[in-house]
Amino acid sequence: MCGIVGYVGKGNAQDFLISGLKRLEYRGYDSAGIVTLSSGGNVTLLRAEGKIVNLENKLAKNKRKDRIGIGHTRWATHGEPSESNAHPHRAGNIYLVHNGIIENYKELKETLKKHEFKSETDTEVLAALINSFYGDGKYALADAVVQALKLVKGTYGIAAVSAKNPEEIVVARSGSPLVIGVGNDVTLIASDASALVGHTKHAIYLNDGEVAVIKKDNIEIKTLNAEPVSAKVEEIETNLAAIQKGGYEHFLLKEIMEQPESLTETLRGRINKKAGTVHLGGPGLSESELRKIKHLVIVGCGTAYHAGLLAGYFIEQFTPEITVETVIASEYRYRNAYIPKDSVALIVSQSGETADTLACLREIKKQGIPTIGIVNAIGSTIAREVDGGTYVHVGPEISVASTKAFTSQAIAMVMFGLTIAQAKGVKPGVLRPYVEEIVKLPEEIRGVLNDVKEKVKSVAKQYFDYDHAIYLGRDTAYPTAMEGALKLKEISYVDANAYAFGELKHGPLALVDDRFFEMTLVPEGILYDKVISNVREVLARGGHVIVVTNAEFDLPVENIIRISSDLKIFAPILMNLVLQLFAYYMTVAKGYNVDQPRNLAKSVTVE
Ligand code: M6R
Repeated sequence: MCGIVGYVGKGNAQDFLISGLKRLEYRGYDSAGIVTLSSGGNVTLLRAEGKIVNLENKLAKNKRKDRIGIGHTRWATHGEPSESNAHPHRAGNIYLVHNGIIENYKELKETLKKHEFKSETDTEVLAALINSFYGDGKYALADAVVQALKLVKGTYGIAAVSAKNPEEIVVARSGSPLVIGVGNDVTLIASDASALVGHTKHAIYLNDGEVAVIKKDNIEIKTLNAEPVSAKVEEIETNLAAIQKGGYEHFLLKEIMEQPESLTETLRGRINKKAGTVHLGGPGLSESELRKIKHLVIVGCGTAYHAGLLAGYFIEQFTPEITVETVIASEYRYRNAYIPKDSVALIVSQSGETADTLACLREIKKQGIPTIGIVNAIGSTIAREVDGGTYVHVGPEISVASTKAFTSQAIAMVMFGLTIAQAKGVKPGVLRPYVEEIVKLPEEIRGVLNDVKEKVKSVAKQYFDYDHAIYLGRDTAYPTAMEGALKLKEISYVDANAYAFGELKHGPLALVDDRFFEMTLVPEGILYDKVISNVREVLARGGHVIVVTNAEFDLPVENIIRISSDLKIFAPILMNLVLQLFAYYMTVAKGYNVDQPRNLAKSVTVE
């Protein structure tokens, strides 16, 4: 969601701001803007609705060599996507960009009668509030920001500059990430470290409740209560190759195809092949703490939620003594749910910034339940607030649709389940098949992706003009079907819904007609015969059935996509690859924006 960048140094601020905003495009946005200041305080404010190219068109006639500036990509919350609602917002000499939501903006606005509002945004209210302290010269910019933030309810990551002091940027955060890039005679800011890659390897992650005054050669951080903060400079692990398309037409296809490597990174150093055991250091739980666990709560949104559902099915298979409840964060945070003692919560998030997931983490911590992060983005808020965690290490996921993160999140959670089972003394003979399949999984993924890619492409072309789909699966193939349906709907805008096969007769069977196709998952296993009966039921109603299977299958369906692999337990993970590719090729065939689907943001930092 919304992106922030900032530059103060000796080079050209406009150049960095535009390239930084482009790096943040993947987060989702509908307008963009930058402001730069000359050393004499001349202001160049450029804003445009729509894509960054529109901003670049304006920039072409307004090139400057200014050495300080801030920029923003906005994903509309308060007020429609338009130039006047785009950031930076101005009040007096102040220019402000903001991520997050100011919840009490209406009350604050009532008190700001002197300011003539030009937008519908909560951000302009904050700009005017800061200016109410700054305008008459009583406060320095940083102090005015602090005074204003003390009155604010809500979440924010902000950057402010003043035309009266074109040497510093003031930034602050509460609930919306901000990273400061430390260079030689240049200091950068961004809401996401990917904007800094290639410019510096050193970063300071601002914490909630901190305010920083940033100059080209100095960074001063304090809390809102004016206590000095000694910041830790951390290394940015991402490299340029990881945030480029690497020869693929879209990030999504790249991210699907790189799953053999990304899963290898998830597994690295965590499995003892010879012993058939799993070792995770990050959660930080002792053997006796692991032994005591009776209940797992898995919390996530969207794809992270589906990964949790899938992992839960597996964990229950090999650890009979524990129960697993996977919950949707936006629901759970308001549910007043009692969490039994001897529970552990797994907090699952690719970005590590999802507002609802973060809120659940904080609620669960209040109940004294240990929290373990299953997170990808290093240094993200969730990663920093959990008691322990396992990074999935899949590298940057740029496409809005999450793919490689799903696979690694599910397997990382299964590995956590295995560590519990090991501690509880579950027989090695029960656990070994899981570990052996996990070890083989990256190469099996490679094989399946290469085998099915062309077939999936041609099948997707046959269905590209459908607008409705039903995804069906049982047991571990059910959360897989849910994930496949989400992928299809979010990028190809097909109304795709998943059902447990056994639920067909309880309602969804009524949908089967020529407007729908049915994507059915048929894994080998104990429920195979039941699933075959379910497929027959759909065929008998004239369904347009596609089957994805690793088993014998000879019913007269429209299309069969065969998975050739020895893996039995994790076959649904392999089937999910087919569903990812299917969504990708459907979207290409429909001609939609694959990596940045309409209305969506990569990182959902507001509720
Ligand atoms: O960053 P997170 O894993 O917390 O994000 C959760 C969801 O917003 C995310 O998985 C979303 O559903 C994806 N766009 C799905 O592809």
